[in-house]
Amino acid sequence: MSVVPRPRAVRTALVVGGVAAALLARGALRRRIRRSPLWPLPALEEPISGRGGGRGAGALRLRVAERTEAAEGVVALRLTGERLPAWEPGAHLDLVLPSGTVRQYSLCGDPADAGSYTVATRLLADGRGGSREVHEALHEGVEVEVRGPRNRFPLADRHAYLFVAGGIGVTPLLPMARQAEAEGVPWRMVYAGRSRASMPFLAELEKLAGGDRLTVVAEDTDGRPDLAAALAGAPPHAAVYCCGPDPLRDAVAALLPEGPEGLTLHTERFAPAAPPEAAAGDAPFEVKLRRTGRTVTVEPGTSVLRALREQALPDLPYSCEQGFCGTCQQRVLAGEVDHRDELLTDAERDDSLLICVSRARGASLTLDL
Ligand code: FES
Repeated sequence: MSVVPRPRAVRTALVVGGVAAALLARGALRRRIRRSPLWPLPALEEPISGRGGGRGAGALRLRVAERTEAAEGVVALRLTGERLPAWEPGAHLDLVLPSGTVRQYSLCGDPADAGSYTVATRLLADGRGGSREVHEALHEGVEVEVRGPRNRFPLADRHAYLFVAGGIGVTPLLPMARQAEAEGVPWRMVYAGRSRASMPFLAELEKLAGGDRLTVVAEDTDGRPDLAAALAGAPPHAAVYCCGPDPLRDAVAALLPEGPEGLTLHTERFAPAAPPEAAAGDAPFEVKLRRTGRTVTVEPGTSVLRALREQALPDLPYSCEQGFCGTCQQRVLAGEVDHRDELLTDAERDDSLLICVSRARGASLTLDL
C-alpha cells in the first residue's frame, strides 16, 4: 500500500490546529482549577469557613462612611458597600483589621438598610488590641474587609422577650428590641452599665421603650441590677436574651433554674476564652504538620491551636478561641477528629477542624500545615 504524502499546507494547518486546540484545552483547565474551591489550597492564613456559600457571604471591602461616638469610649461605624447580604437581629460581622487581626462585632443598625452595616466597639485598655486598632485605624473613608454576616444568636419566635444587656453587650439586643417593637411582641429590657455616659444607644432605647419597659441601671448611681426581680417580672415562657460581661451572664444563668418557669436563656459572648480546661478523658496526642514537617504534642488542658502556636507556628491565625468564628479552621489529612464546635457543617467536618476547640479521637492527626 502506498502512502500519499500530504501537501505542506495541509501539514502546517494540522500542526497549527493541534497547537491551538492544546492551548484552548490548557486555558480551560486552568480556569476550571482557579474556580475550584480547592484552588488555591486553603492558605495557612485564611480560614476555609465563612468564605462565601455556606453560612454567609464571602469577604467584602466596605468603606467607613460615618464614625460617631456612641458613648464614652465607644465608637459606632457605619460601613457602606454595594449589594450587602441581608442579616437578622443577633448577627455579627467579622472585621479583618489592617493588621490582619479578625474580630467579631454585632450588627446594631437597621436590617432593612441594604446599603450599610453598623457596628460599635468599646475601647478595651486591657484587651488583646482589636478594639484599640478599630479606634485608632478605622476613620471615615478607610476601607476595611469584612466577612459575614453570620448569626449565632438568632431571635427565637416567642410571644415575649426579656433582654438583659451589659454595656457594649447591648449591640445585638438593640435590633432585637426594634424588631419586637415593630412586630408588636411584648418586651422589656434591663440595661446595666458603669455610668449613663458609658452606655451606648441609651437615648435611642429610652425613646423606643417609652414608659417603663426599660430599666436602666448605672452602677455609679444605682449599684448592681436586681436580676432576680427582673426575671420574676418577665412574662411566663418569655425568651431571655442576655449579652454582656461574663459575671452578668453567669448571674442570669444561675438564677434561671430557680426563676419563673418556662423562661429560656439565650446568651452570646465575644470575649476571648480562658485557657481550655482538660475535659474528663482527654489524653495527649500528636499533631503531624505535613507541609512543615514537624510533629507537635498536644497535652490535655491546652488546645491544638495553642500547642501549634507555642511549639511550631507562632503566627497561626485565630480570633475567638471558642469555636464560633471559623478563623482557625484547618484541613485534616489523616486521623479522626473529636469535633467540639457548633460551627462547621457536616461536609466541612469531613476534612477540616477548628483547632481552637477540637481534638484528636486517637493518637494523632495530620494537618495540611
Ligand atoms: S479561633 Fe474562632 S473558631 Fe477557632
